[in-house]
Amino acid sequence: MMKKIQLLSLIMVAVIFISCNQATKNKEMVKKDVFGTQDGKEVYLLTLTNKPGNVIRLTNYGAKIYWIEVPDKNGKKDNITFGYDTFDETLKGDKYFGSIVGRFANRIANAKFTLDGVVYNTPANDGPNTLHGGPLGWHSVLWNTEVLRDSKFPAVKFTYVSPDMEEGFPGTVNASVTYTWNDNNEIVMDYVCTTDKKTVINVTNHAYFNLHGAGNGDILDHVVTLKASAFTPVDSVMIPTGEIRKVEGTPFDFNTPHAIGERIGEKYDQLILGKGYDHNYILDNKEEVDVTVYEPVSGRMLEVITDQPGMQLYSGNFLDGTQIGHGGKVFKYRSGMCLESGHYPDSPNHSDFPTTVLNPGETLKSTTIYRFSVK
Ligand code: GAL
Repeated sequence: MMKKIQLLSLIMVAVIFISCNQATKNKEMVKKDVFGTQDGKEVYLLTLTNKPGNVIRLTNYGAKIYWIEVPDKNGKKDNITFGYDTFDETLKGDKYFGSIVGRFANRIANAKFTLDGVVYNTPANDGPNTLHGGPLGWHSVLWNTEVLRDSKFPAVKFTYVSPDMEEGFPGTVNASVTYTWNDNNEIVMDYVCTTDKKTVINVTNHAYFNLHGAGNGDILDHVVTLKASAFTPVDSVMIPTGEIRKVEGTPFDFNTPHAIGERIGEKYDQLILGKGYDHNYILDNKEEVDVTVYEPVSGRMLEVITDQPGMQLYSGNFLDGTQIGHGGKVFKYRSGMCLESGHYPDSPNHSDFPTTVLNPGETLKSTTIYRFSVK
């Protein structure tokens, strides 16, 4: 009898020890440091380390992904995304590096849209249009930070309450993005939004990638496979014309692998208007992986998986070398590319595009994954 009790106590002690140990491990998987202050509030830099020992860094300012350190085919690790070393540089630097973009990613034509007969005016910050939710959009606000200690993998949830009429958009919106860095080297981004008034939402992440390592040359040799049969051509101010164009037979067809630089210089109307690739693809959404990017020198591969209908392929055409990021790296012309999952640009002004309207009582839920590996 005595022996049984002793054995039971021993098992209980072991269980308590294992769970405490797990909790300590979870704590170590996410390190929270102060990055700076804004309006008297602390801005954090969060370091997430997964079991294979790979590291990503996030900040709650703009809910940005600031660092993704993954190995090449020889096991050499390097950061492959754009960001800055200090909060001060962040405030002065490019607004969109790694940012969560909202309320409406990409452009809204002539900075206005109509909902139920009411015209909403949003700030024009890109010629006549509104870009990425306006100058004070979600990329520039401080999100609340919650480290998810009970998660199996390192995970951080950022939440933000966007007030009614912020940047001209109706409704108080409760937004969250949870970043999970799992042991398969996937950044899983889970978005959730609700509203108290009818509104429009298009949320994305604007990380720039260079699989050679951020600041190491351009992305023209990155080989892209993008599962989309059509895209939305744009006019001279980058607004979709409404045409849905088949990619077949054009330099926009990435259904079979092509290097970004292979056809980017062709005298094709949309490459001229976009100054390169800067277009929304209509995803086929038939296979698990929507986009694959392979960089042959390092062997690094990025796969993007999304439940969204569109994907903006942007070849870094507006980068001009004026931005100096991590460790003094210079982000030159076409030295980074973005794959922005989401809805089609200017959807609120195109009734035939998939709707971006969110009603009270509905919950917008969406997931996009960046998966890193080597080949
Ligand atoms: C992209 C957009 C580009 C440019 C960039 C920010 O999402 O497609 O045209 O505005 O953001 O520099």
